[in-house]
Amino acid sequence: MNKGYFITGTDTNIGKTEFAVALMRAIQERGHIVNAMKPISAGCTPSKEGLLNDDVIRLQSQSSTEMETSIINPYAFEPAIAPHIAAQEVGIEVKISHIKSNFDRIVSNSDYVVVEGVGGWCVPINKFQTTVDILHQLHLPIIMVVGIKLGCINHAMITYQAIKAARLKCIAWVANIIDPNMQRAKQNYHAIHERLDCPCIATIPYMSTPKTEEIYRLIELDQII
Ligand SMILES: Nc1ncnc2c1ncn2[C@@H]1O[C@H](COP(=O)(O)OP(=O)(O)O)[C@@H](O)[C@H]1O
Ligand SMILES: [Mg+2]
Repeated sequence: MNKGYFITGTDTNIGKTEFAVALMRAIQERGHIVNAMKPISAGCTPSKEGLLNDDVIRLQSQSSTEMETSIINPYAFEPAIAPHIAAQEVGIEVKISHIKSNFDRIVSNSDYVVVEGVGGWCVPINKFQTTVDILHQLHLPIIMVVGIKLGCINHAMITYQAIKAARLKCIAWVANIIDPNMQRAKQNYHAIHERLDCPCIATIPYMSTPKTEEIYRLIELDQII
C-alpha cells in the first residue's frame, strides 16, 4: 500500500457501489491487491451470519483478500434509514476510532483500499459527527460519483464545494447516467465539467443491467493511480 480512495456521491442510489466495484476490478487488472470497506451500511437482511447488506456483499466478493464482514462493515443497521437514527434505535454509538482501526487492518493487507460512503457526502453518523469526520481520520482522496439526472448540476457543485470547504481533496468525478430518460445529458455533463477543477475519469452510460466487466473498462485509471 498503500493507496486508497473514498467513493462519495451526489446522493444515495446514484451508482457509488457500481463504480466502487468497477474501480476495484480496474486496479486489480493491474495486478494489485485491492480490498474494500463500507464503514456504515443501512438496509440489511438478518441472517445466520448476522446482518447482510447488498453493497457489502458486492464489495466483499470483489475484494482480493478474504476478510470478515464485520471488518469490512463494522456498523450494519437493519432499516434502510438515516444511519444515526438507525444506530440510536438499537442503542449503538458509531465510533470513528473503531472504523479507523478496521480500516488500518484492511490497509495492512492491501495495495489499495476502496471505501464506499453511506448516502451522500454529509450524513450524520451520531449526535455530533458526520461522514465528513470519518474522512478526516482516513485521509483518503475522494472520488465523487454524479448521478446524471435532473438536478445533478446543483448536487455536483454543492457536494464538490462541501468537500473543498472541509479541506479535503476530490481528485476526480464520475458521470453516471442513472436516468435512462435524462434529457440533455451531454449538456449537463459539460456544465459540471466546466465548473469542477478535477478530471472526469469515467462516463458510464445507462445500462439495463449494469455489468462490472463493462464499467471497469470505462475508467481512466491513469488519471488517479
Ligand atoms: N449506469 C447505470 N445504468 C443503469 N443502472 C444503474 C447505473 N448505475 C447504477 N445503476 C443501478 O442503480 C441502483 C443504485 O446503484 P448503486 O451503485 O447501488 O448506488 P449507491 O451505491 O449510490 O446507492 C442499482 O440498482 C444499480 O444497479
Ligand atoms: Mg451503495
